[in-house]
Amino acid sequence: MLYRFFLRGVPFYLARHYWWAYLWKPAIWFFDHQIIINAILFGQYKRLMNTTLDKLAHTNHQRTLQLTCVYGQFTQKLAKLIAPTQLHIMDVCIHQLHVVQRKTQAISPVLPTRMNAETLGYKNDSFTTIVLFFLLHELPTEARQNTLSECMRTLTVGGSLLLTEYGVLPKQHWLYRNKLTRWLITYYEPFLDSFWHDDLTKLLNERGKCFGKKVEVISNTDIFNGFYRVTAYKIYAVK
Ligand SMILES: C[S@@+](CC[C@H](N)C(=O)[O-])C[C@H]1O[C@@H](n2cnc3c(N)ncnc32)[C@H](O)[C@@H]1O
Repeated sequence: MLYRFFLRGVPFYLARHYWWAYLWKPAIWFFDHQIIINAILFGQYKRLMNTTLDKLAHTNHQRTLQLTCVYGQFTQKLAKLIAPTQLHIMDVCIHQLHVVQRKTQAISPVLPTRMNAETLGYKNDSFTTIVLFFLLHELPTEARQNTLSECMRTLTVGGSLLLTEYGVLPKQHWLYRNKLTRWLITYYEPFLDSFWHDDLTKLLNERGKCFGKKVEVISNTDIFNGFYRVTAYKIYAVK
């Protein structure tokens, strides 16, 4: 079993299901080409990135965290948008953090830290903005809930959470209706089906309770007929 070589200090699900995409150096080189990542997102990468950046332009950049690394130009553009403020970025894979350092050093150096999204090393209320770009659907249910909890813990009241993700269960979308494409997508994304059924707002509010916080959707943009979404949440105090 090849994945066992990648188990060093990373969550089991990541090594087991995604070693070939995120942990293996030649794969990191391969996938980090705009043309490849755009193909994986059915040609929607630019729209997803620009919509996310447009929404981020209206958030408080004082302390911004990108929760895990992503392929393509997103991090460079985000680092540039919030410069001279430095972008915090974390990932459990050290190679991903090295790549992001290389990609951003000429634009605006980032503050990379190796850690698990389920148990962040940042203190409560550390960030005014957190952005998650296609992370949640790659996490098993429990890891997803823990990660949302950590977002609620580390965001300040008045802060923003930006989510760029698959939409809700896309029953009417041709990619879902077609059995072959549905099988292919859910084969390579084994946790996507459970993500499709999650109510993220409800989960965030449940998880926020123990930190005295709740969320409200400030804006939502459906992309590719709702197959993807970009959602901005604002964090409020629970009275
Ligand atoms: C953001 S996601 C998917 C990005 C998307 N497919 C893209 O590139 O546009 C991939 C990253 O999440 C990281 N990751 C997955 N689970 C994690 C966890 N529990 N803690 C920290 N990083 C994690 C992986 O190491 C990988 O670098």
